[in-house]
Amino acid sequence: MNDKQQVAAALAQALPEMDIKEIEAKIERPKDSNNGDYAFPTFFLAKILHKAPQMIASELVEKVDQDGFEKVIVAGPYINFFLDKAQVGAKILQSILTDPAHYGELDLGHQANVTIDYSSPNIAKPMGVGHLRSTMIGEAVARILEKVNYNLIRIDYLGDWGTQFGKMMAAYKMWGNDPEIQKGLKEDPIDTLVKLYVRINTEAEDHPEYTEAGRDWFAKLEHGDEEAWEMWNRFRSLSLERFNRVYDMLDVHFDSYNGEAFSAQKMEEPIQLLKDKNLLEQSRGAQIVSLDHYNLPPLLIIKSNGTTTYITRDLATALYRKRMYGFAKSIYVVGTDQDTYFRQLKLALKDMGFNWWDQIEHVSFGLMNLNGKKMSTRKGNVVSLEDVLNDSIDLARKQIEEKNPDLENADEVAQQVGVGAVIFHDLKNYRRNAVNFKLEDVVKFEGETGPYVQYAHARAESILRKGGIRDFSNVDLTKAGAEAWELISFLGQYSEAIKRAALNYDPSVVAKYTLELAKKFNQYYAHTRILEDDEAQPARLAVTQAVSNVLKSALDLLDIKAPDEM
Ligand code: ARG
Repeated sequence: MNDKQQVAAALAQALPEMDIKEIEAKIERPKDSNNGDYAFPTFFLAKILHKAPQMIASELVEKVDQDGFEKVIVAGPYINFFLDKAQVGAKILQSILTDPAHYGELDLGHQANVTIDYSSPNIAKPMGVGHLRSTMIGEAVARILEKVNYNLIRIDYLGDWGTQFGKMMAAYKMWGNDPEIQKGLKEDPIDTLVKLYVRINTEAEDHPEYTEAGRDWFAKLEHGDEEAWEMWNRFRSLSLERFNRVYDMLDVHFDSYNGEAFSAQKMEEPIQLLKDKNLLEQSRGAQIVSLDHYNLPPLLIIKSNGTTTYITRDLATALYRKRMYGFAKSIYVVGTDQDTYFRQLKLALKDMGFNWWDQIEHVSFGLMNLNGKKMSTRKGNVVSLEDVLNDSIDLARKQIEEKNPDLENADEVAQQVGVGAVIFHDLKNYRRNAVNFKLEDVVKFEGETGPYVQYAHARAESILRKGGIRDFSNVDLTKAGAEAWELISFLGQYSEAIKRAALNYDPSVVAKYTLELAKKFNQYYAHTRILEDDEAQPARLAVTQAVSNVLKSALDLLDIKAPDEM
């Protein structure tokens, strides 16, 4: 129960004819804290009770349950509530310290299944910084939803199907035995595959038979030819090995890597359904589904050359996921450039008669710019995610060496701070906003950064090491003092932040919460001698421990580590 609910409960005793939710909705927060922490206006009761509001207030106050309040008084037409901060604060601290791992949890999901499709890079291409956003937002959303008791199924929907793989096979057959290429495939497989692909595309201009060969190889793949599948498999596992290096750095792990190729084997059902519902139309040799009635462009289902498309695979994917996982929600973490695409996908499913079409959630995000330039994998301008992370780790290491040259596990901490900084920067603003990425701003220890929050946590841990108490079960938690109130009350708002983040699939709510908590703790630290050896010291250390716990928990929701020293 939060403070406001406590006020509502106290009033409910005096107003048995009113619903407690209605009472809660009427409660206000006075602008001036001299007028209490909460106020209940009685104007609206005047009409019902045919009495003056002042009179109602004075009568009501007699019946209000005063337990848990310092005082409850009448101020004209208002009843003002002053919380017994020592008691309320002690309760908050108590619930954090007794079970820190579960503090803030809610049950919105009742263990219902949620599939989340995120990261989803394309094989035989480097994972670009664009995929960073999908990976990080997806992982944070997954963790936040788990915290409110959903059961998450994490899916890396690899882009592992398409005619380009036919071309790559043709190139591999022609030039793959070259010792240079064999060496390259071992050392830098993705780069080597990209080069093969670029080479066949360039040379195909003078050799149309290369294009022909690409088409043939893709047809072989579609028809289950063993050699084609072996090659495809090789490309895929080489790529996945590389992707896994990044996933390990980020501590992101998937339950399924079923990508487009997997869905490409399940096309009959959606196509048959579209036919049965008379939704397929011929258009210049291709087969399309019109979405005119939604004012949206049509879907291209089967191309004139007979091959299926990305959206046909996504239709099959959606059907498969519903059947396999019985999801209550099916999330896709993909950029805003695919807004229209996901509206098409959802409305096509609606027209196909699936009442679960609106359980599909496109959790979209804006572009990421590198120093003002668009980050993409254009030819010759490849910014790889791994490079960005490594640069960030290097910069973090330099700063740690300056700040704390004796730190023992400096490498590990640099890793946690460098990676955490990139993640935090990605998550701190509403996801649909564009992000400008400038390494020096991202890895700063001051300002609205990940290292700033991590540092507040490390500071709390350092105080606790000096304080020496780690078990607070016998500490009188009411002794923390008035100057800790704002901080403690903010700790009490953690689960509300989680709830808001979960309902909007918006990790920035949690990121902003951590910034605010770090700031409030730093202010507390600046104004209070936490370690002063007096009778309230254990209670102040308890506050410090609670802050450390909640910071660690909130950072964990963002997939950011909280080192104890840095
Ligand atoms: N592979 C795609 C890309 O890199 C993202 C896939 C998103 N998921 C989906 N089911 N369409 O843009």
